[in-house]
Amino acid sequence: GAASKGEYRHYMLKEIFEQPKVIEAALEGRMSASSVLVESFGPDAQALFQKTRQVHIIACGTSYHAGLVARYWLERYAGVPVQVEVASEYRYRHPVVPEGTLFVTLSQSGETADTLAALRFAKTLGYVGTLAICNVPGSSLVRESDMSLMTRAGPEIGVASTKAFTTQLIALLLLTLSVSKAKGQPEQPEILAGLQALPSLCQQVLGLDAQIEALSQAFAEKHHALFLGRGAHYPIALEGALKLKEISYIHAEAYPAGELKHGPLALVDSEMPVISVAPNDELLEKLKSNLQEVRARGGQLFVFADRKVGISAQEDIRVLELPEVHEALAPLLYTLPLQLLSYHVAVLKGTDVDQPRNLAKSVTVE
Ligand code: G6P
Repeated sequence: GAASKGEYRHYMLKEIFEQPKVIEAALEGRMSASSVLVESFGPDAQALFQKTRQVHIIACGTSYHAGLVARYWLERYAGVPVQVEVASEYRYRHPVVPEGTLFVTLSQSGETADTLAALRFAKTLGYVGTLAICNVPGSSLVRESDMSLMTRAGPEIGVASTKAFTTQLIALLLLTLSVSKAKGQPEQPEILAGLQALPSLCQQVLGLDAQIEALSQAFAEKHHALFLGRGAHYPIALEGALKLKEISYIHAEAYPAGELKHGPLALVDSEMPVISVAPNDELLEKLKSNLQEVRARGGQLFVFADRKVGISAQEDIRVLELPEVHEALAPLLYTLPLQLLSYHVAVLKGTDVDQPRNLAKSVTVE
């Protein structure tokens, strides 16, 4: 059944490997090769998205990182300004809500206390509408929002969120395309085609598991790790660092690579593994020079990169090559190897992977 580990040693591993299947489920019936179905978000979605002039996204933990990725998408592909914030901060601010603002919550459980309180607060602030992107139908967040879209990841047992995150990203890309379409902008067939191809690309990346497991050995004895990314891959670096912290208890931090010189470079030496997400995008050349800064200080680099980017393995650089993918979809694909890396480091360290100390799957009290 859904709650059995089957052939896998941990729920987390099973859930990582379920991603091609649940991504397909999250897309099912919501798009075709040429068009996104705006009504997936409900009968009022077309009218609401048409009126949407900006978006506020609120969430906690891993769900917050999905929101950070969505900011890049909504701004670039729908032309809509976005603010993203953690619920525990938002709910105690005095937010100014411009006319035509859509309020979006992201949550695996739909019961996170801070996120729910943020929604209830937002309903007093004059938003144009509220949307919940959630994995649990009938949860409080879904019941109390005007619109909802289910992520269809199935039950997630591992405390460290994996498939719930990638299916949130799918939902957010569908939101981006839907808002764009509702506003009368042209459809984006390349992204739609990329989405259709994504489950099989994810399957290819999961096929790199043995190589990722081999990389993980370099981390087991480390006390710190630094994750770097730029653009929409900065939030992916944040999520990679969060996964490593949560389950391996290694102190991990993520930085936008361009900020390296403003502080973290001081920490880089031969004891510091630096993990970098390097898809083939417009920021690649800048990222490469950031990586040189790390090498020059003797840092050990682990680069997850598109085959085409021409970063080759050397004594101080280990490279994991990923398949080519449309730029918009890269954040989804690059999440997978970081999940596997954390998983294998945690297994090597002998931690309780599915039930890390001090953490809960769903935080229903403030
Ligand atoms: C807890 C979990 C995290 C999760 C966060 C938000 O901290 O351990 O994995 O990301 O809550 O949960 P939600 O259900 O709102 O996505």
